[in-house]
Amino acid sequence: MYDRFNRRINYLRISVTDRCNLRCRYCMPAEGIKLISHEEILSYDEITDFTRVAVNMGIDKVRLTGGEPLVRKDLPVLVEMLAGLKGIKDLSMTTNGTLLGKYAQQLARAGLGRVNVSIDSMDPFKFTWLTRGGRLDDTLEGIDAAIENGLTPVKLNCVVKESKDEPDARMVTSFAEKKGLEVRYIRQMDLGRGEFGVVEGGDGGNCARCNRLRLTSDGKVKPCLFSELEYDIGKPGAEQAIIMALKNKPACGTVNRRGYFYNIGG
Ligand code: 5AD
Ligand code: SF4
Repeated sequence: MYDRFNRRINYLRISVTDRCNLRCRYCMPAEGIKLISHEEILSYDEITDFTRVAVNMGIDKVRLTGGEPLVRKDLPVLVEMLAGLKGIKDLSMTTNGTLLGKYAQQLARAGLGRVNVSIDSMDPFKFTWLTRGGRLDDTLEGIDAAIENGLTPVKLNCVVKESKDEPDARMVTSFAEKKGLEVRYIRQMDLGRGEFGVVEGGDGGNCARCNRLRLTSDGKVKPCLFSELEYDIGKPGAEQAIIMALKNKPACGTVNRRGYFYNIGG
């Protein structure tokens, strides 16, 4: 499928939960978050039905995001349901890695292809500070578990203030080189102020080449992270919501004062 700027849209990012077991300073507001109630969150059947429609319309690349996808109960069950859909060439997940030690094997068996793991510092104290309580070792164990279980290529997401030359990012780079992993350096963004940047080493942030749609955990299709537009999949139905999102996908993002990364997915 194509949008009105003739961009081919083949990539769906699904936020399965707005919850997370970390509280990264750049992601979660300090005052805490208003959680979406369990009743509003799409069931695994609803997510799978929506994705089936999307795949029939031309999506062939699907990524699970959050919040943290692995805090949602029985996530491997959803992975298995999605992996069973014909037409998905690339099924991946973005995770903070803390629960991969526990789930990597089940995820691989369920049919997940690969993971991107967020890691912004190799200094255990800085990591704990940045994530407001996370343990670097949990994420490192998670990365190893992902590699051992073939969730490859494992890629690292590293949020930077300005560039990959910052000390923390450099440490992530040398760790990645040792392990033979690719890194995406993501410039810290501010949705509300419309500050967004191109992802070094990845495709994010390049509006002219954007191929994405997003599904939020409460069932809205979003044509762009940096826009307040959203289309409910409940009322007009999945196909209509996708058509509306395609028709209204902006040439380039501007601002989003309503959404946050933890409920739209990074
Ligand atoms: N700027 C850029 N990326 C962000 N993420 C969360 N908050 C931000 C932000 N303010 C992304 C990061 C992280 C993923 C879970 O969400 O890429 O790795
Ligand atoms: Fe959780 Fe990822 Fe947000 Fe950190 S960036 S609080 S790990 S969702």
